[in-house]
Amino acid sequence: MTMDKKQACVTGGNGYIASMLIKQLLQKGYAVNTTVRNPDDLERTAHLREMQSIGPLKIMRGDLDEEGSFDEAVAGCEFVFLVAAPVNLMSENPEKELIEPAIQGTLNVLKSCAKAKSVKRVVLTSSAAAVSMKNLEGNGHVLDEEAWSDVEFLRTAKPPTWGYGVSKVQAEKEAFRFGEENNLSVVTMLPTLTIGPSLIPTVKTSIALSLSLLTGTEPLINGLKGMQMISGSISFVHVEDICRAHIFVAENPEASGRYICCAVNTSLIELAQFLSERYPQYDVPKEFGDFPEKAKLSLSSEKLVKAGFEFNYKQIEEIYDDVVEYAKSKGLLKK
Ligand SMILES: NC(=O)c1ccc[n+]([C@@H]2O[C@H](COP(=O)([O-])OP(=O)(O)OC[C@H]3O[C@@H](n4cnc5c(N)ncnc54)[C@H](OP(=O)(O)O)[C@@H]3O)[C@@H](O)[C@H]2O)c1
Repeated sequence: MTMDKKQACVTGGNGYIASMLIKQLLQKGYAVNTTVRNPDDLERTAHLREMQSIGPLKIMRGDLDEEGSFDEAVAGCEFVFLVAAPVNLMSENPEKELIEPAIQGTLNVLKSCAKAKSVKRVVLTSSAAAVSMKNLEGNGHVLDEEAWSDVEFLRTAKPPTWGYGVSKVQAEKEAFRFGEENNLSVVTMLPTLTIGPSLIPTVKTSIALSLSLLTGTEPLINGLKGMQMISGSISFVHVEDICRAHIFVAENPEASGRYICCAVNTSLIELAQFLSERYPQYDVPKEFGDFPEKAKLSLSSEKLVKAGFEFNYKQIEEIYDDVVEYAKSKGLLKK
């Protein structure tokens, strides 16, 4: 019976993280409403209809660009997970295509939450890109939730993907402001690069990026290089842990503010060394010229761990073994 179940809403059920989050919520006994832009697209929502065998899952329409379009999906929900967001990292007009829609989309869902009256906690999925995109000198920095990416620097220097960092900072800040003004409890979850098996048919960029040193895909290897240069490190987390962390902060009444969720901090060169030793069957590049060997910084999840969260995937070995198995099963990597 749906009536005795706790109800949660997850926006963007066609997404990589959202789909895993929905699965975990259903497995925990929640009744879930999820939104997609087009529920009639049977191909793109097939994974959701499959999950309806686990528990009560309603697939509803919701577009971040339309105020009010989440009213029905969040009505009666105790927890609302704002996972959907514009993620076109390489947009040519980030102000118009990324930053403005991210802020407005966040506010549109929050307005629906405020109207619903049933919502006890909103969890907004932000990103480590809202923490570490700044111009730091030297190495060895440890960043926690106090750190914010430097919006002024990003808007002036415009390094690749700058608009994404700005969109995440601004959406978080607006969400906290709205929460305070409307007596709505908002916490933000900040995933690092999220990797691991996917429930959706398309392969997300984060998985492709993580595999790039094994597949030898040059533009994506350059993407990893860019990540280290602009964000200061290559830091990642297993998709199952990031979803568990979302539920953890929703269910924990004491949770507040921001939470970084990061299992492993490394650099491109260290990662390449690890991968070439662990998976010698692939041709992992070894020469990176004068590319910096060490990461500038590491991201700390101490706040999340101190609150009682336990990572199931802590080691680089177990995280990569899982994503490599997944990639082999999908034909993305040769066996
Ligand atoms: N994957 C990572 O490594 C990573 C790391 C840090 C943070 N994050 C954050 O985690 C969240 C989920 O990311 P993901 O990796 O799961 O990406 P994803 O698979 O691309 O999911 C993004 C979802 O947002 C939806 N969306 C975009 N614009 C929308 C709009 N105007 N209205 C309604 N829905 C819209 C997309 O819908 P369509 O399917 O219809 O396009 C898609 O389902 C994002 O907020 C992202 O910034 C991800």
